Amino acid sequence: MDINEAVKNRRSIRSFLPKRVTEDTIRKLISDALWVPSWGNTQQYEFVIATGDALERFKKENREALMSGEKLEPDVPMPEKWPQTLKKRYVDVGKSVLTALSIPREDKTGRMNYYGDMFSLFNATALLIVVVDRDVLLEYAMLDVGIFIQTFKLLAHARGLGTISLAASVSYPQIIRRIFNVPESRRIIIGTALGWPDNDSPVNNFERKRDPVEMFVRWVS
Ligand SMILES: Cc1cc2nc3c(=O)[nH]c(=O)nc-3n(C[C@H](O)[C@H](O)[C@H](O)COP(=O)(O)O)c2cc1C
Repeated sequence: MDINEAVKNRRSIRSFLPKRVTEDTIRKLISDALWVPSWGNTQQYEFVIATGDALERFKKENREALMSGEKLEPDVPMPEKWPQTLKKRYVDVGKSVLTALSIPREDKTGRMNYYGDMFSLFNATALLIVVVDRDVLLEYAMLDVGIFIQTFKLLAHARGLGTISLAASVSYPQIIRRIFNVPESRRIIIGTALGWPDNDSPVNNFERKRDPVEMFVRWVS
């Protein structure tokens, strides 16, 4: 697949088919993505790949924690407030998703069930969790992790696989630590769900938006 096409057509997948991704495929995706640049070539990320029964347990418990109103306590704090421009984009994508799923805004139960589906990873059959040593400087580690994840996503997309990074997957780190055996010495950064996308689902087909270049760039010469 052409790189321009891959960058433009990759999208976050919110409905996966119940079909496994082989361990060989995941290994190959990681080994190719490891060619990303990192600060001083430190390659400070570590990965937990969850599949099978362990993943099913995680999905169930993560969903239940949300539904029972447990407080979200991610290792990396999540933004709660944004400047107006950013807030609008955030709200817009939420609306697009709910519209694609035909869930009216006032349907509280429908929305809660949707969040439950998000916390159970939209049925994905694999989860890549990136962790870093608590001793590394978080700000730079986050840059390296971000570069890795996007590369992983593009490589997955080029093979017809789907991904979505999910803050929702790392909101209850204690569940991750217990089920996947992640020690306190590791900070859990972000999870990316991986699987075969349901390409016919409307939630994987709504029109995505980006602002024009002028919104982001100030040219100097
Ligand atoms: C770090 C990170 C965390 C995210 N967490 C969630 C999440 O918890 N739930 C969700 O539905 N989407 C989540 N997303 C997906 C974004 O909503 C999505 O990337 C954005 O709307 C742009 O859409 P696109 O990826 O389809 O281009 C996350 C994305 C990133 C990069």
